[in-house]
Amino acid sequence: MKVLVVGSGGREHALVWKIANSSRFTTHGSRIFCAPGNAGIAQIAECVDIKAEDISGLLEFAKKEGIDLTVVGPEGPLTLGIVDDFEKAGLRIFGASKRAAEIEWSKAFSKSLMKKYAIPTAGYEVFTDRERAVSYLKEKGAPIVVKASGLAAGKGVIVATTLNEAVSAVDLIMRDKAFGPAGDELIIEEFLEGEEVSLLAFTDGKTVLPMPSAQDHKRVFDNDEGPNTGGMGVYSPAPVLTKALLDTVMKEIMIPAVKGMASEGRPYKGILYAGLIITGNGPKVLEFNARFGDPETQPLMMRMKTDILEVMEAVIDERLYGIKIEWDDRASVCVVMAAGGYPGDYRKGDEIIGLDDAAGMDEVTVFHAGTALKDSKIVTNGGRVLGVTASGSDIREAVKEAYRAVSKITWNGVHYRKDIGRRAITPAK
Ligand code: AMP
Ligand code: GLY
Repeated sequence: MKVLVVGSGGREHALVWKIANSSRFTTHGSRIFCAPGNAGIAQIAECVDIKAEDISGLLEFAKKEGIDLTVVGPEGPLTLGIVDDFEKAGLRIFGASKRAAEIEWSKAFSKSLMKKYAIPTAGYEVFTDRERAVSYLKEKGAPIVVKASGLAAGKGVIVATTLNEAVSAVDLIMRDKAFGPAGDELIIEEFLEGEEVSLLAFTDGKTVLPMPSAQDHKRVFDNDEGPNTGGMGVYSPAPVLTKALLDTVMKEIMIPAVKGMASEGRPYKGILYAGLIITGNGPKVLEFNARFGDPETQPLMMRMKTDILEVMEAVIDERLYGIKIEWDDRASVCVVMAAGGYPGDYRKGDEIIGLDDAAGMDEVTVFHAGTALKDSKIVTNGGRVLGVTASGSDIREAVKEAYRAVSKITWNGVHYRKDIGRRAITPAK
């Protein structure tokens, strides 16, 4: 079998690692490719120098190489319609179609879907006009949340604590176009309070099979301080999502979303990722994503026992109802090691020391994100550099093991949070 994974982050390293462990890869002639990949992925797959958003380049490669299955990591290619183009060419691909992925690339669409199908989310209005947005803000007051409707790499959301801040956010998004055309339309929504948790599920458009819960840490510094990032660490499971709450989320959010998309003529296949907040009035959706999370995927792949290719093929063939996914009961924790300065400007090209020591630990896998090979040394090549991921009998043990591995690794200017998982160990008062 020949598989192509599209992307170059820690999420893609975890996917390639899990796919490489599939029993299918014992057969002669099996190969895994990753486009464009990174230095860690290159140790277990063949990296191909084609960018994740170069859809025609990827299509040409998949045809020429006779790829049996393509797996898409990031939202960029989904938004550009990679799934539609591959399917048109008769190729098998795992991911959401362009119209299904609109649940992620347009917050205005995603909010209207939730409204229409009564999926619990923050109350909101959509604006294309600055003056109307500002008068709405004045009517509602702060705290309030202002969001660019389009894709903004997790940065287009401003939680404003004062009216002035909210008005500045509207100007930043609409007038200054800080997020480009993503800000032609904006959402103003009610501020919600509660603990956040991610729930990802495989779906073939009919059956929805959830993965275990996971909790990301979005802010760059300890105690959730500093600017938002792509994610600085994750633990799974997240105790805040109890069995009872999971049942509610499946019944009120995940299943209605997949059914709603079908009713809208947008059959949803691939991964549905709900960013949730557990409020005093129950779980509500902050956002939907149409892909695996990064870094959520790193601990989730460590916990997944079932062959992922079986599940992906069942999604494509719409026979997920016959599949049961087994998960390791133990906990898993991923600590992201980032380049100093991230999420702002950061250095590249620093040699990473201690990778082999950490990777040699039994319960640890070091997933690479922004790394490259230079003069036969592994060097930093991105903001988030590594996702050091460990298993343990519970979160406390997994955290201990992950940080033991982190302590073996270093480079010039390395930065990471020291409190990943702490909330799950000492519940917030
Ligand atoms: P989003 O990209 O929409 O998930 O938003 C990014 C982050 O902003 C979330 O993880 C929350 O921490 C925060 N956020 C978004 N929407 C709200 C809201 N309605 N109330 C409070 N915080 C929010
Ligand atoms: N970890 C957040 C995301 O993947 O969007």
